[in-house]
Amino acid sequence: MPETKPLGRLRLGVNIDHVATVRNARGGPWPDPVRAARMAEAAGADGITAHLREDRRHITDADIDALSREIRLPLNLEMAATAEMQAIALRHRPHAVCLVPERRQERTTEGGLEVAREENRLAHFIAPLRDAGIRVSIFIAADQRQIEAAHRIGAPVIELHTGAYCEHDIAGDIAARDAECARLGEMAAFASELGLEVHAGHGLTFENVKPIAAFPEVMELNIGHFLIGEAIFSGLDSAIRRMRALMDEARRAAFGEGAA
Ligand code: PXP
Repeated sequence: MPETKPLGRLRLGVNIDHVATVRNARGGPWPDPVRAARMAEAAGADGITAHLREDRRHITDADIDALSREIRLPLNLEMAATAEMQAIALRHRPHAVCLVPERRQERTTEGGLEVAREENRLAHFIAPLRDAGIRVSIFIAADQRQIEAAHRIGAPVIELHTGAYCEHDIAGDIAARDAECARLGEMAAFASELGLEVHAGHGLTFENVKPIAAFPEVMELNIGHFLIGEAIFSGLDSAIRRMRALMDEARRAAFGEGAA
């Protein structure tokens, strides 16, 4: 068994955005994201993640109100670094805020935040959030420059974008997938050495989660789209439990019994 030990228990944050996507397809109240959040809690999730996009294409302001009021799990609010979103975060004071880049035309959050390009603005942006006791995380690519910039602006947490790793896997480009996986592992270790807490997410599935779950520095995975899709076939409870079990298996395989 390797000497390395994980820095802590790997948490699972369940992203419920796409429950709202299905609801919004009809404009009525069903399916209810709050009900999904409660079910996620019962299935062993450690947190709920929701992305309030500027165009409100899935999660709405009313959803954030309801989630803040009604769920017990810590809420991780994903949002763009805009004045409007900052005001919403300061009003609700979620457990965590994850800053993500947003482009109107994109289908999902396609890349990480360019922290290095707007360090000054972001440092000022996160200061009031941190002062309000909100844990600020920055969603970035596995890129040393971005990690160093996230550290310099005073963010306590980074979330590594696993989208490229997952896309190479879908495309069957094993060499590119493995290279990106190795980069994610190296950058998780690099960030952790700087004192940053490391999370990861985007595109994770039953098939590709284990190598990411096995990085000892990764403390949290945020997973949504696949789980909500899988819920169509096996139910949300079962999908979350299976993901949790795979994460635990990966931890045990890497670090021995007791590591999960
Ligand atoms: N983490 C962040 C920062 C995200 O923006 C998203 C997508 O909203 C996820 C994790 C979850 O990605 P997926 O829905 O592909 O599991």
